[in-house]
This record gives sequence, structure tokens and C-alpha cells, in this order.
Amino acid sequence: MIVYLNGAYLERARAAVSVDDRGFLFGDGVYEVTRAVNGQLFEWERHARRLARGLEGLGIQLSGGLERIGLPEISERLLDENGLGTGDATVYLQITRGAAERRHHFPPAGTPPTVFLGASRLAVPEAIRAQGAAAITTADLRWGRCDLKTVNLLPNVLAKEQAVAAGAFEAILVRDGVITEGASSNVLAVIGGVLRTHPLMPQILAGITREVVLELAAEVGVPVALEAIPQDGLARASEVMVTATTADVMPVVKIDGRPVADGQPGPVARRLHAALCTRMGRAAVRAPAGATGPARPV
Ligand SMILES: Cc1ncc(COP(=O)(O)O)c(C=O)c1O
Repeated sequence: MIVYLNGAYLERARAAVSVDDRGFLFGDGVYEVTRAVNGQLFEWERHARRLARGLEGLGIQLSGGLERIGLPEISERLLDENGLGTGDATVYLQITRGAAERRHHFPPAGTPPTVFLGASRLAVPEAIRAQGAAAITTADLRWGRCDLKTVNLLPNVLAKEQAVAAGAFEAILVRDGVITEGASSNVLAVIGGVLRTHPLMPQILAGITREVVLELAAEVGVPVALEAIPQDGLARASEVMVTATTADVMPVVKIDGRPVADGQPGPVARRLHAALCTRMGRAAVRAPAGATGPARPV
């Protein structure tokens, strides 16, 4: 695989970052994961806006600005050169504050940020979608700026590990009695016929898939409320789903070992997933019911 690092295209195995890089030392950087379908980036402008907000939030400056790097062009070249011009893929990009002698405060002005991009094949989890995913709930232990997509993901890593150890697909994070989001997804629930999700605040990441799915809900006539879901509201939900670039709309049918409603994927998730696939220019795959995915029910 060919990747991009600081202006050069090189074999992934040869791409190396300094041990002084602040991404390595402090998690001092931001990242994006962008979906590509048949070589085309999906909703790049939204990712670019979120990335720019994150860089500004952290005070990471790129000489000449972000646009000068040509991130969409680099992404498309990586998709093409790595044989990812057809089917589903993702482009991972990370920008850190660069390499400098270790100290907590910012390095001297002019320290060049590290810019890395790589593309990979995406195995869309269709088998799990067909039967519905299992999730666990766990405490949201993250900091106060979860709206910035930083590489500081330790609480997310620990929550996801807890989910995987329980045979679940996702960890649903709970803070002060409400669902904030998932370890690597946003959480939506249908309660009383209304699709509810946490409003945008520093406590959650503004997921691109969430944003698009909320627009699609309005288009297909699903009422939406931007209101936090209380943890005990999950028991009253007729559907729960998570959204993410790598999972699209994923119905959640079991939480902490208890079924959500009748324990089957529901019509709202199915409809929104189909609408999202149409928007992405990709056929909605329906794996045969009963197909097993890597996640076992909790
Ligand atoms: C904490 C968190 N929330 C939400 C999401 C979903 O965001 P997106 O739809 O942009 O992939 C992610 C994606 O990785 C995430 O890490």
C-alpha cells in the first residue's frame, strides 16, 4: 500500500514518524476517517469543515492553510494507486502538531505539522446489520471537548475493548444519566415515534453520518428531536441505532443483554440506511437473515 506522509508518497512499511512527534508523545493532533465509494469521497466538504474546526480548536496552524495541502486530491490518488477505485474504502488522515523537543506547551512557531493519509478497503458490516448489533452501556470518561476529533482516544479505546470483550459491536457511553454517543459512533433511538439523538455540544462529536442521516430523516418524514436520550429511555425505545462512517446506520437490537423492543432491526433504521446508501451511490446490501457476524450477542 502507498501512503502519503509530509509531501511524499511511499510504501506504508517505509512510512515512519519521529519519536518526537507530538501525536506520539501527547496525542496532540486531529484525524478524520472519510468514506469512499467507487473512488469518490463521500461528503468531503463536511469532513474538511470538521477538520478545520478541530485544527483551529487545538491551535494547529498549517503554513498556507489547509487547502494548500490538497487533501481531497491526495485521497483520490491514494484510492486510485491502491486499487480502491471501486467498492467501499476509507481514507484515514491525521495531522499532528509535529515533531519537537518534548515540552507540554506548544513548540516554537514554524514547527511543521505532521500530515499523514492512508486508504484502506472497508469491509462494511452487512452480516451484523442483517441481524442487528449488540451493545453495552458504560461510563463516558472523556474530557470536555469531545466535539474535537482528536487522536486522544484512550477512553474510547477502553470502552470499545469492554464491548468487544462482551461480544458486542459498540459501547454506548453514559454521562450524568444520558446517552452521549458511542465509543466510535453516534447513538439515535426511536422513542414514541420520534428519532432522538443528543444535540451537538462539546460532549459529543458531530458525526458526519449523524448529520446526513438527520437530513435524510427529514426527507423521508421521520420526526426528529435533538434531545438527549436518558439511559432509562432505552427500555422504552422501539429502535436504537448507531451511525458512523464505517458502519453507516447500524440497528442495535440488544443492550446489556436485554433486547431492544422485539430484538429485531426496525423499519426506521432500515429506511434510513437505504436512504443513506442511495445518497452514497451504493446499493443497500441485505445479507441473509440469520447471517452471523464477528460480534456475538451479549
Ligand atoms: C466518538 C465518535 N462519535 C461519532 C463518530 C461517528 O462520526 P462519523 O459519522 O463522522 O464517522 C465517531 C467516528 O469515529 C466517533 O469516534
